Amino acid sequence: MKIMVIAAHPRLAESRANRALLSEWKKNGQVLVRDLYQEYPDYQIDVQREQELLLEFERIVFQFPFYWYSCPPLLKKWFDEVLVYGWAFGPEGVHLKGKEFLVATTAGGTEKSYRSGGDNFYTISELLRPIERTLTKCNGTFLPAFVVYDANQATDEILAQEAKRCAEHVQTSLNVLSH
Ligand SMILES: Cc1cc2nc3c(=O)[nH]c(=O)nc-3n(C[C@H](O)[C@H](O)[C@H](O)COP(=O)(O)O)c2cc1C
Repeated sequence: MKIMVIAAHPRLAESRANRALLSEWKKNGQVLVRDLYQEYPDYQIDVQREQELLLEFERIVFQFPFYWYSCPPLLKKWFDEVLVYGWAFGPEGVHLKGKEFLVATTAGGTEKSYRSGGDNFYTISELLRPIERTLTKCNGTFLPAFVVYDANQATDEILAQEAKRCAEHVQTSLNVLSH
């Protein structure tokens, strides 16, 4: 399966968790991994190129640090500009039909905090619903997210293990992930 990872971290130089995920990807020749902030430091997204790339891949992974219960701003801008009416949705917007989308995110909060009654009240799946609905409105399938919890406290060893688990999750088939 052709997989593209779109990573979006505004301060990758200071990152530990997302960098760990990216270094695992570097060992994997099968997956195209892109760094949105490196490609578009001026926020000027090449929409046509992004749409062409989406057509080439079957599974698209959005990898980002969880920021205010959502994604960093350049990725939001990417959704706004790339997933447009007439291309991604609407009567003629059929180009993403059948594509699989997946979020891989890192969170400062613990797993226990992301539940009813916990510090963050909601699960990450619940908080990802705007992204989920964006992608299902574009006729895509939204697969279960991979989350690294408590990312700032994790040791390098734990982050390396999480990165391996993430790569496995991302490459697991639809049937196994969604049953
Ligand atoms: C602006 C900002 C907003 C954040 N919002 C959240 C949040 O809503 N929930 C959460 O669990 N962590 C939040 N964090 C913590 C980051 O998710 C965490 O530091 C990051 O995932 C660690 O990954 P990294 O080492 O790749 O930067 C926030 C951090 C920043 C800088």
